[in-house]
Amino acid sequence: MSGVWGNNLKISIFGESHGNAIGITISGLPSGVELNLEQIDKEMKRRAPGRNDLSTARKEGDIPEILSGFFNGKTTGTPLCAIVRNSDTRSKDYGEIKELMRPGHADYTGNIRYAGFNDYRGGGHFSGRITAPLVFCGAICKQILAKKGIEIGAHIKSIRNVKDKAFDYINVSKEQVISLRDLELPLIDRSKEELMRKTILEAKDQGDSVGGIIECAVVGIEAGIGDPFFDSMESTLSHLLFSVPAVKGVEFGMGFGITKLYGSESNDELYYEDDKVKTSTNNNGGILGGITNGMPIIFKAAIKPTASIAKKQKTVNIEKKKDENLVIEGRHDPCIVQRAIPVIEAVTAIGILDLMKGRDGWNL
Ligand SMILES: Cc1cc2nc3c(=O)[nH]c(=O)nc-3n(C[C@H](O)[C@H](O)[C@H](O)COP(=O)(O)O)c2cc1C
Repeated sequence: MSGVWGNNLKISIFGESHGNAIGITISGLPSGVELNLEQIDKEMKRRAPGRNDLSTARKEGDIPEILSGFFNGKTTGTPLCAIVRNSDTRSKDYGEIKELMRPGHADYTGNIRYAGFNDYRGGGHFSGRITAPLVFCGAICKQILAKKGIEIGAHIKSIRNVKDKAFDYINVSKEQVISLRDLELPLIDRSKEELMRKTILEAKDQGDSVGGIIECAVVGIEAGIGDPFFDSMESTLSHLLFSVPAVKGVEFGMGFGITKLYGSESNDELYYEDDKVKTSTNNNGGILGGITNGMPIIFKAAIKPTASIAKKQKTVNIEKKKDENLVIEGRHDPCIVQRAIPVIEAVTAIGILDLMKGRDGWNL
């Protein structure tokens, strides 16, 4: 398999949920970038497990140890490698899934793909835990993008049937996306918080799980980033977004909803404001022909309900080659959505920086 991604900024992720450590090597960073380690830590904590009753009880500090590529507070320009140690592992909880394939998880596909040699403990390399190094990398990319005036932020658009308001596709501001990062449940309409919590906790009490939608905005991005074939802004971001475990759908701008409109309604009309070209609507989510048009990039990612649930389920025993029942033990998120938010923001930052480097080199 290849755990490597990127044309201009190359990332390579490694590790398993219950191994010694997980980590990332980032090649292609510019030299001399001062890194705000406190800011990186803050991003890591947003994703870390065990922070509240809405997430898995597994407690991990998720403190990244930078092994290379960073000297005297600045990037050296050589590969930057960081690891995050696994400390709170309880591998005995996972003995059963060596043979019993969890429905909705990657136990069966992973077993087939790697001929049974995969580390199944805690989902191994398929675990949501592998997204911690992505958040580390994304935090660095976010700092570089912020210097260019670009800010990325996301909120919970929905959990099951409980909906938040949508971003204002035209006027979403840097201040708004930055302030969302401080919230445990990032919502535009905070009055929905209690109901969302209740929905997650009710599912948890029933040994079940729920999913939802994350809406992400990129504000302050200029026009002209991306290409039509094949590294379009949409395909680059989608490639990364669909690599995030539990993401089952992505739509840009109005997405599938745009099909219900006439062209006269869906077209984003152009006009000048202070010598800058703008559009009066943003149904295309800030991207046309795979290239940014200078309006905010807006997209949604669908996150499925957590696969590992405590309810009894039917599955197969791959060793005995027969049907069996499975009751999953171990610690799992009753809802992945809130923990996936910093991951979605991180891969967005990585994708955008890769395309910007492709266009401008490091003339950032
Ligand atoms: C932050 C994060 C946390 C996750 N936590 C869990 C979990 O506790 N239990 C679980 O079954 N899946 C969890 N997942 C999702 C699984 O890793 C994922 O569903 C599985 O690998 C199958 O991949 P797929 O859903 O993309 O097809 C998590 C995903 C993320 C992004």
